[in-house]
Amino acid sequence: MKNILVTGGAGFIGSNFIYYTLDHYQEASVVNLDALTYAGNLENLKDVKGDPRYTFIKGDIRDRALVESLFDRYDFDTVVHFAAESHVDRSILEPELFLTTNIIGSQTLLDAAKRHWKLAPDDKYSRDYRQGVRYLQVSTDEVYGALGPEGMFTETTPLSPNSPYSASKAGADMIVRAYHETYGMPVNITRCSNNYGPYQFPEKLIPLMIHNAQHDKPLPVYGDGMQIRDWLHVSDHCSAIATVLEKGKIGEIYNIGGNNEKANIEIVKLILRQLGKPETLITYVKDRPGHDRRYAIDNTKITTQLGWRPAYTFERGMHETIDWYLEHTEWIEHVTSGAYQNYYDHMYGGAKV
Ligand code: NAD
Ligand code: DAU
Repeated sequence: MKNILVTGGAGFIGSNFIYYTLDHYQEASVVNLDALTYAGNLENLKDVKGDPRYTFIKGDIRDRALVESLFDRYDFDTVVHFAAESHVDRSILEPELFLTTNIIGSQTLLDAAKRHWKLAPDDKYSRDYRQGVRYLQVSTDEVYGALGPEGMFTETTPLSPNSPYSASKAGADMIVRAYHETYGMPVNITRCSNNYGPYQFPEKLIPLMIHNAQHDKPLPVYGDGMQIRDWLHVSDHCSAIATVLEKGKIGEIYNIGGNNEKANIEIVKLILRQLGKPETLITYVKDRPGHDRRYAIDNTKITTQLGWRPAYTFERGMHETIDWYLEHTEWIEHVTSGAYQNYYDHMYGGAKV
């Protein structure tokens, strides 16, 4: 892992991953390709700006000529593909963007990596690649669909995505799988549960609720608030990805989760408690269409085969995360631009953040 292409590195998990990589791998250099959509903010990366091992390229993963030229210029040996449209609620409003970014964007990256890494790129029967190269697709537990009160997702759970977002991520996973089966591409897919931590765009549950509580605004809880998510601190997600890059078996899928199942309403109440705000701020609103009731990750494969373990307890992670958002109000003001305000008004009927 020397020359790494990170896509979507100006987003929540990508920016955390860039910090993680530059901290833990002194020999690594990182090129961050990011289109800087509403969700991408260079302010997330201000502490790596002067690092000679880091380069930012503003561009779209669907821009084939650009992606090819980057492979020629930087000779990547590793691709960690985060870039995506990532918000379920937005996918309900604008599904096509999710399909082109998440599926065609992934395929464009795979094509460029194949052309650059394959020893005989024009021989369709050849399956030989340069030593040590790897493409990692960052996927999600949402591709498995929803669970009832029992059971967990394993890597062999059939895909059953319910939202345009999760369907686009499942489509991307299928393309990655096909490039491995047909062309012998050295790939991995990781499927992670809900992340929380610093630099998450405040349209997602935890930063949205912290921000609204801080400003005594209503906290919009969908439906009965009893939907369950399995929370993982973003730095544990980063260490899991690094573990897969180092030790993962080519072609394999790895689920990543922290065994922290919580109902949404529990999270909302915890935030209100830490902020010393009243539960009267909780406002039950109309449910998300097609809302998945429960996710839970069985992480046995990555823990037993690769020796990865999450370092954070949920209590410590949430405490630090809430403090981080309270200390970074300027960051929130900067990232919640006019475009975000329009989206918020559309989603929540004019309530201000
Ligand atoms: P995010 O929305 O915070 O960031 C996405 C980044 O991708 C942004 O910087 C954006 O500018 C960039 N981007 C979007 N379209 C692009 C394009 N066409 N070309 C180049 N860049 C583009 O997302 P996130 O929460 O950091 O998620 C990162 C990845 O992890 C996604 O693939 C997501 O599906 C996956 N994932 C997220 C979670 C989670 O809880 N957030 C959990 C599991 C998996
Ligand atoms: O499971 C992994 C997925 O987690 C990732 O693949 C997605 O990219 C990421 O956005 C996240 O999806 P969710 O839909 O689970 O996350 P979100 O923060 O949008 O919502 C978490 C839960 O909180 C969900 O049950 C919906 C609920 N919710 C969310 C918002 C924004 C509310 O009740 N009110 C809200 O205002």
